[in-house]
Amino acid sequence: MTVVAQRMRQVKLSPSVAARIVLNRLREEGRRIIDLTIGEPDFDTPAHIRRAAVEAMERGETRYPLSQGTMPLRQAVADRLILDTGVSYPVDQIIVSTGAKQVLYNALMSSLETGDEVIIPAPYWVSYPDMVELAGGTPVVLSTDATRRYKIDPQALARAITPKTKWLMMNAPSNPSGAVYDEAELLALAEVLRANPNVWVMTDDIYARLTFNGRPAPHILQVAPDLAERILVVNGVSKAYAMTGWRIGYGAGPKDLIKAMAVVQSQSTSGACSISQAAALAALTGPQDCVAAFATSFQKRRDAALAILSTAPGLQAVSPDGGFYIFPDCTALIGKTAPDGTVINSDAELVQYILKETGVALLDGGSYGVPGTFRLSFASAIDDVREGCEAIRAVCSALSE
Ligand SMILES: Cc1ncc(COP(=O)(O)O)c(C=O)c1O
Repeated sequence: MTVVAQRMRQVKLSPSVAARIVLNRLREEGRRIIDLTIGEPDFDTPAHIRRAAVEAMERGETRYPLSQGTMPLRQAVADRLILDTGVSYPVDQIIVSTGAKQVLYNALMSSLETGDEVIIPAPYWVSYPDMVELAGGTPVVLSTDATRRYKIDPQALARAITPKTKWLMMNAPSNPSGAVYDEAELLALAEVLRANPNVWVMTDDIYARLTFNGRPAPHILQVAPDLAERILVVNGVSKAYAMTGWRIGYGAGPKDLIKAMAVVQSQSTSGACSISQAAALAALTGPQDCVAAFATSFQKRRDAALAILSTAPGLQAVSPDGGFYIFPDCTALIGKTAPDGTVINSDAELVQYILKETGVALLDGGSYGVPGTFRLSFASAIDDVREGCEAIRAVCSALSE
C-alpha cells in the first residue's frame, strides 16, 4: 500500500535536479566536477536590483501581495510586453507567479480536461510532459530534425493536430537546442494555427532576451497579432536578469484564462514573494545594459565551446542562436568502445562515461526527447567551459569501433 497518488506514476523528478543530487555526492567524495548541466546564469543579480529588494523590505513591503501580482509590476510587465510582442495587455490580462514554471503549471491546470492533447516539440524542456501529465492531459511529442535546426516543421505540426489538441508549446530560444525562429518560419506556423482554431499556443519566452549577434528572437505575435486571443505569453526575470532564485515569472493572455490561472494560484501559493516582486520591478524598469552584457558573455562562451566541439570526432553540434545550451548529436558514437572496454550503448551511457572518466557533467538528450544527443550548458566560467569541452573531445577521440 502506498500513500502516493496514481497520477504520480507518470511523473519523474526533473533530470537536472536528479543530476544535482549525483554531483553533490561526487563532490562530497572529493571528485572535482566541471558542471555543464547548469540551467541558470552564473552571474550575480545586478546590484540595482538587489538594492531595490532591500529598499522594499525597509519600506515594509513584507505582507501578502495581491495574489495576481502587484499593480506596479504588472504595469511594468505590460510595458515590457509591448516591446517583446507588440501587444498591449491590460493589467487584468497579466499574472505574476512564482517563476515562469508556475505560470505554465497554472495554465495547464486551469485549461486541460482529462485526455486533452498538448503538442510538445522535441527536443523539449524536461518539465513540459510531466506538467501536462500532472494536469491530466496527454503529451503528444512532435519530433523535429537536426537538419531543420530542431525547429517545428509546419506540415508535421498540421499532421499532429487532432480534435483533442488543446495546446501547442513553443519555446524559442529553445532549451535545449537554442533554436530561434525567423519571421517567415513563424508565419508558416501561424498559417497552420489559423487553419486550426481549436489549438491554443503557449510561448515560453524565458530565453528570448538572450540571443546572439544582436539578433532578437521575433515573437509569433509580431507576425500574427490576430492569434492573440489564443496565445498565452510566458516569460520572467530568471534568465535575462540572473534572478533564478527570486522566483518571478509572468504570463499574459486572454482574460478568462488569466482569471482561471489567478484562481489556481490563489488556492495554491497565493502571490509571489513581495520582495522579489519589488526586485523584478527594478529589473524591468531599470537600466537594461546588464541583459546585453550577459548575452555577450554567453556568446563568447558558446563560440569557445563550439570551436572545440566542432573538432570532436562523432559530434555534430548545431550552433544555438540564443539561450545557454548546446545540443550535440552523438549518434555516431553509439556502439563504440572506450579504452577501458566500456561499450557506449546510448547517450545516457556516454554522459555517464564522460562523468566517470573526466568529471565533466552533462545531461542526456533522451531526457529532452531526442535520444542520441546530450545537453551542454555554457552558463559556467569560460575556462570551465573550455576545459570541459576539451575533456569531451578527448573522450570522443579515444572511442573506437
Ligand atoms: C524552457 C524553460 N521554461 C521555463 C523555465 C522556468 O523558469 P523559472 O525559473 O522562471 O521558473 C526554465 C528553467 O530552466 C526553462 O528552461
